[in-house]
Amino acid sequence: MAFLHVFNPFFGFTSATCSTDGFSNPVIGPSSGGGSTCISGHVAVSINATGTKILYEAPKDQRAVTESFVELFQADAAWISEVIAGGPSVISGRYNIFVKLCLPTDPEKLAQVKTVQLLTHGATLDHTYWDIAPGYSYVDVASAAGYATLSYDQLGVGNSDHPDPIQIVQATAQVAVAHELVGLLRQAKLGGYSFDNVVGVGHSAGSTLTQGITTQYPQDFDAVILSGTSASAASVALTVSAFNFIDATTDPAPQFKNLPAGFLTQQSAAGIQFAFYRYPNYDEDVFRKQVANKQTNTLGVLLTLGGIVAPSTEFTGPVQIVNGQHDLVFCGGNCLYPTDQNVVTMSTFYPAAPKGSQTYIATGAGHSIAAHKSGPDSFQKMVQFLKTNSL
Ligand SMILES: *[C@@H]1O[C@H](CO)[C@@H](O)[C@H](O)[C@H]1NC(C)=O
Repeated sequence: MAFLHVFNPFFGFTSATCSTDGFSNPVIGPSSGGGSTCISGHVAVSINATGTKILYEAPKDQRAVTESFVELFQADAAWISEVIAGGPSVISGRYNIFVKLCLPTDPEKLAQVKTVQLLTHGATLDHTYWDIAPGYSYVDVASAAGYATLSYDQLGVGNSDHPDPIQIVQATAQVAVAHELVGLLRQAKLGGYSFDNVVGVGHSAGSTLTQGITTQYPQDFDAVILSGTSASAASVALTVSAFNFIDATTDPAPQFKNLPAGFLTQQSAAGIQFAFYRYPNYDEDVFRKQVANKQTNTLGVLLTLGGIVAPSTEFTGPVQIVNGQHDLVFCGGNCLYPTDQNVVTMSTFYPAAPKGSQTYIATGAGHSIAAHKSGPDSFQKMVQFLKTNSL
């Protein structure tokens, strides 16, 4: 039994024997900067989502992987129309999802906790995006401001289960997983901790998923913060060509050992820099760490992510849109050209722009705002947005 802080319904969060209820193989440890104490482990999540029957098999070798992207971006989109023509499918199953619940280590901060933030990472990243290194940790900044966070590895990523990368690891399955995690948080099923509010925080494809949740399940979140996202997919092909995806099993990095075929990763560090970073405005050690820990993406997600995007007309909570000034993936390298893309994003996805909504441009940053020198400023703006909205 380890000691941590648990929720006491009469006295708020207090120091006591730790409850790791709801986690399997729990491990307790600090965040990178030490401001949080975190329980990591697996939770079993049951989903039953409508997917797409994709008429395509996981590419058998590198030539087939490369060809699939050549055809994915073919001007007439003939290949996409062909492979997604299989109609709806049922994605149903129980999957182990790796989660990390972090609470402020400082007992005074811990006593203030009433809101948990669900942190959803971007493609080819994992939960560590939110806690990269001391000074580059949104988890630490959130804890210092009196918030709990739940970061996790998406289905088919990192320490989570890796089912079929074409038929199962699709966008609607990711939305269903995140929705189930919100349910566990709201029902105090993770360590017995009870929260008044749940806020959705996304980065990149994680923002697309978070935005998808505000459309499909408008009651899930009290507020959302969407970073590294926009209403334009115009530079996605440029991004994916810079990645030059390879079958992850052919990459010697240890995280890909024992992976089934069909999971894809970036070929080179230069490709990751091209898409995610703005030189020299980032920390070299943080960049190297992210490259060494690069994760995977799947054709299942790439072919279905656009399908979950629709304006969130019924969501009434406040929204914050945060982008690096030089985001390549979603702004083609300039989020203020030809007009402020944050403003366009807000009016496209949240036409009723709920009261208290804000936008923020992270000066000098590329797509991975957390890894840039302006990251700490962005993190402060994010928690300030929540404070301003009494969350
Ligand atoms: C999943 O949902 C479908 C309808 O969308 C239903 O027919 C099926 O019984 C459900 N499966 C499970 C395991 O709940």
